[in-house]
This record gives sequence, C-alpha cells and structure tokens, in this order.
Amino acid sequence: MQALKDLGKLISPIYPSLISRVGQLIEDAEQKFVRPTDESEEFIGSFLWEHTLHVASFARKIALAEGTDAFDAVIVALFHDSGKFVEGRYHDDDTPEEETASDLAQKILAEEGMDPERIATITNAITALYNEQQSASKTTDVVHDADFLAKFGYLGVANFFVKSALRQKNIYKTLITSLSKELTYAAALQANMRTVAGKEMAGKKSAATLTYYRGLLDELRDAGIAFFKIIEEAFPHPKNPDKSLTLWMAVPETCPECCSQLSFDFTIQTTTKCEKLTAKVHCVSCPNCYQVSFCLPEIAQ
Ligand SMILES: [Fe+2]
Ligand SMILES: [Zn+2]
Repeated sequence: MQALKDLGKLISPIYPSLISRVGQLIEDAEQKFVRPTDESEEFIGSFLWEHTLHVASFARKIALAEGTDAFDAVIVALFHDSGKFVEGRYHDDDTPEEETASDLAQKILAEEGMDPERIATITNAITALYNEQQSASKTTDVVHDADFLAKFGYLGVANFFVKSALRQKNIYKTLITSLSKELTYAAALQANMRTVAGKEMAGKKSAATLTYYRGLLDELRDAGIAFFKIIEEAFPHPKNPDKSLTLWMAVPETCPECCSQLSFDFTIQTTTKCEKLTAKVHCVSCPNCYQVSFCLPEIAQ
C-alpha cells in the first residue's frame, strides 16, 4: 500500500518498529473481539487497523497541506482508536477508551525512546480528540478532520457497512439504527471541519455520501424491500444562537411491526464530554421504538 510506505518513510527512520507495533496491538485486540474463544485460525483483515491507516494517511495529507507537523499528526492518528477492542469490548460507554489509548501511547512511545515532553504533547492531543472541553492543538484538529473524512465519501460508506458486519448487523438493521446519523453527519461534514484542507476535502465526500444513500433508499423502495423516508428537522442551537442543528432522520414510512405512524421526541443531554441530541423514534400504537444520538459539536452549522 502506497499510504503505508509514505507513513513508513515519515516515522520509521526515527522509530523503526512503531508502526508495526501499533498494528500488531490493534489487530490482536480486534481478533480477541471477533473470535473470543478460537484464536487458532489466522486472522485476516483487521477493520480497525485498516481504518487507522486511512486516518493516518488523511492526517499526513492534511498536515502537509496545512504546513503543520505531519509527524505528530501521524503518531496521534496511529493511536487514536487503539483503546477500542481492548479486553474484547467495543463502544462500551462506561469505559473511557481514550484513557486506554493514551496509556498505550505513553507506554509504547517511551519504550521506543521518545522524550517525555513530546510524549505528553501526543497523549494530550489524543485525549483532546474525545473531549470537547479540552483545548485542542493543531495536531488534534488535523486528526479530528482525518477521522471524520475517513468515514464519509465512497470509502466511508464501504467502511460503514464493514463496521456494521462486525457488530453483526445486516443492511436493514444498519439503516434503521445508523442511517440518520450518517446522513446528518455527512450533511454537516464541511461545517464540522477544523482545518482549511479538511474543509476542501469534505465538500466532495459530503455530496458523494448523500447521493449514495439517497440512491440506496430509492433502490430498496423500487424493489419493494424497504420504505424509508428522509425528514429534515432543524433546531436552534441550545447554546449558540448563531448556529442551527439540522437532523436528517431516515425512518421507515410506517412502523415495521404494526404499520402505524411513527412519531419523534427530541431531548438534549449534557455529558462530561459533549452535548448530545437524542432523537427517539416511536410507534404511536405499539411499543416499537429506537433512538439515535447526535453529538452537537459535530452537527452544528
Ligand atoms: Fe477513528
Ligand atoms: Zn407499531
């Protein structure tokens, strides 16, 4: 992979084993998650390591375009998701994965001989990625943009379905639980970018994502497989009167259980990390309901 060669050229002269060590760590953790009991078979194709390399590659590209330090951005990108899958868990809200990522970076970078001051810069940039309240460095901004860009556009859609398979969701289940979020974040992608280079890349990816999903819903409808409609709901930003929030809710036209109407409730919650808007979709006549949460800082326009 050209991207891996480029990353190697940047990192390996100073830290020759760093990329392969982080790769091994992430692949091992994912293997434990995917096959908790059977480790005998060779594990091929780590989703998370592939995503990590995409983010590192975008981070390098953005940093170079911004004239900022690509070296630090790539190292932060390599560790940014390293706390996932650790101990076989995945998106477990009770466990702060960024703390795990930061601890892993601390340990590995020290073993690779990086000086403590530089390690602190890196670990601060990692934790700032997850905490809107923590002041972000330029490196954090670059990796933030790279991580979002990797999730949208043609590549992003491919990743989205691969990730769903990892959580054992089929197409319909994936669309029900996550499409509103994908559309909403895709529509807000440019406004969510923190760097000029990121903003430039985001325009194309945002449009491609929305075009793809609209086409997918049309095709499902034509084939009589699933009937989704997209409803745009705009809200004033609760904290910032200059901004608005637009949700793109992709919901079945009628309740999949009983064919009655579906209705929405919206609530805003403040967590320690950021503010969230939760949309609860529920049937007017049966108990069928589900909810989708959106991070306010990432959808404010
Ligand atoms: Fe990521
Ligand atoms: Zn119902």
